Amino acid sequence: MASAHIWTLGILFTLSGLRAQSVTQPEDEVPVAEGDPVTVKCTYSVSGSPYLSWYVQHPNQGLQFLLKYITGDPLVKGNYGFEAEFNKSQTSFHLKKPSVLGSDSAVYFCAVSD
Ligand SMILES: *[C@@H]1O[C@H](CO)[C@@H](O)[C@H](O)[C@H]1NC(C)=O
Repeated sequence: MASAHIWTLGILFTLSGLRAQSVTQPEDEVPVAEGDPVTVKCTYSVSGSPYLSWYVQHPNQGLQFLLKYITGDPLVKGNYGFEAEFNKSQTSFHLKKPSVLGSDSAVYFCAVSD
């Protein structure tokens, strides 16, 4: 069966430079069979209200925006069939897709700012 490889990296946008904030993506690589669901984990640490987003970088391409959470509905639907759910009590913003394509093989970036 064909498979997709999902790589992850945490990146951080610091606006104030003073507050402690970071994102953690606990898994470096998430192998998944084509057609299967995938969850790419991201937990954040930020004082104040976080502004969270996901980006993707395909091989030999630039960074592409997937989705962002600012306020309101915690379930955010984004590009390419991805969605992410903001969970304040878990301080998480996991990226999900119900059925992965081979072309989803890429590096995924979780980003936080305040
Ligand atoms: C946050 O995650 C916890 C543990 O998975 C879950 O019980 C809770 O319902 C989630 N809250 C929201 C708002 O999704």
